[in-house]
Amino acid sequence: MTVHFIGAGPGAPDLLTLRGRDRIAASPVCLYAGSLVPPALLDHCPPGARIVNTAPLSLDAIVAEIQTAHAEGQDVARLHSGDLSIWSAMGEQVRRLRALCIPFTITPGVPAFAAAAAALEAELTLPGLTQSVVLTRTPGRASTMPPAERLSTFAATGATLAIHLSIHALDRVVADLMPAYGSDCPVAIVWRATWPDERIVRATLATIETAAAGGPERTALILVGPALAADDFAESSLYAAGYDRRFRPQGAGSRFADPQA
Ligand SMILES: C[S@@+](CC[C@H](N)C(=O)[O-])C[C@H]1O[C@@H](n2cnc3c(N)ncnc32)[C@H](O)[C@@H]1O
Repeated sequence: MTVHFIGAGPGAPDLLTLRGRDRIAASPVCLYAGSLVPPALLDHCPPGARIVNTAPLSLDAIVAEIQTAHAEGQDVARLHSGDLSIWSAMGEQVRRLRALCIPFTITPGVPAFAAAAAALEAELTLPGLTQSVVLTRTPGRASTMPPAERLSTFAATGATLAIHLSIHALDRVVADLMPAYGSDCPVAIVWRATWPDERIVRATLATIETAAAGGPERTALILVGPALAADDFAESSLYAAGYDRRFRPQGAGSRFADPQA
């Protein structure tokens, strides 16, 4: 018996990996985080599967479900939205499973920040402009932030910020970022990327609060940084015509030229 943690993707049912689909189809028990996992993914469960929405359950109750399946020798598909490596609560479940000697696997999923970038038709790392993306959030009722992980600290890097779980605190996000990024810095908000009711607002730090007024207070990504509206950036050296590289050696004098040729 194995527990298969599966990243369920950002919303569109066809953004599940083939491996994830197959593991759901092979598991007679499915535990899914009902608040964000698209219900259509449950269509992959085998006929007669036990399907449990874990949104109202405590960690103890979730582990009890897994222990019951373990005792019956039934594999479990455990679905969390997006990818499992960020804000999935997988870490605490895995720790319990290790202590109980229950085997598990992990299948990654498409994270919401990647889905939001696709919706914006944006590359978040542009040559000569920004080469880092910070996946972060602001404090919530259930989660404090480590003191060193302030938005203003990340802002000092000038990187692209992908701010999760914070749409309800947009005013504080703007106030924290304004000193480092300036009022003209591009901002985009993507609500429910890849869901049928996806919504996008583009503005600047100065105008985003007005532009986003009246929008839903849940399931949105706030993306901030110069890469979001830049048209004036360098082309990458990798594809430059004269750039000497292993896969495109530039003539006989190339450091990558094949001495046997
Ligand atoms: C608990 S976190 C889950 C993140 C997820 N594990 C991932 O890989 O993206 C939930 C937050 O992710 C963001 N999020 C998740 N799905 C989203 C979507 N389809 N569109 C925009 N933001 C989304 C929102 O900021 C939401 O508050």
